Amino acid sequence: MEENIKLKMTLPKIADIELVAIEGMDRMAKYMGIPDDKIGEAHVLVTEAVINAFEHSGQKKPIVRVEFTMNLEKLIIFVRDYGKGFNPENVEEPDIKKKLGSSHKRGWGLKLMESMSDDFQLESDENGTKITITKNLQ
Ligand SMILES: Nc1ncnc2c1ncn2[C@@H]1O[C@H](COP(=O)(O)OP(=O)(O)OP(=O)(O)O)[C@@H](O)[C@H]1O
Ligand SMILES: [Mg+2]
Repeated sequence: MEENIKLKMTLPKIADIELVAIEGMDRMAKYMGIPDDKIGEAHVLVTEAVINAFEHSGQKKPIVRVEFTMNLEKLIIFVRDYGKGFNPENVEEPDIKKKLGSSHKRGWGLKLMESMSDDFQLESDENGTKITITKNLQ
């Protein structure tokens, strides 16, 4: 049977804490013999998801849970916060032409995560936001 390894962590809101999650993910990949170039894009995914969770969730006691599940075929990244949630339908699609002429250059994280994932699921309600990203490793 395909070996599945899991890493679960609860991140406090301190500077650069997403690097701890990335380090853990890299260790798992090394253990599994997954080459660095296969895991490189996942660094961006983890960074965007964790930063969004701390920055936008508006949690009173800010913690973010991160879970990695990995086998030789795929990596699943789960990130959740316990904040106010949001409706992704209300988030305006970023448009590069408009952004170039605007002072508001942000708003790319969700789009980037979606386009770099092999599967991207977002669930959000008043109990918080959960993101599940699948990245194929083969
Ligand atoms: N975990 C979350 N909780 C609540 N709202 C969120 C969450 N993640 C995203 N959002 C909402 O979706 C919007 C778009 O997120 P996105 O990551 O695309 O852009 P951004 O974070 O504003 O800018 P960027 O990621 O480019 O620095 C955010 O501005 C916020 O309103
Ligand atoms: Mg963002």
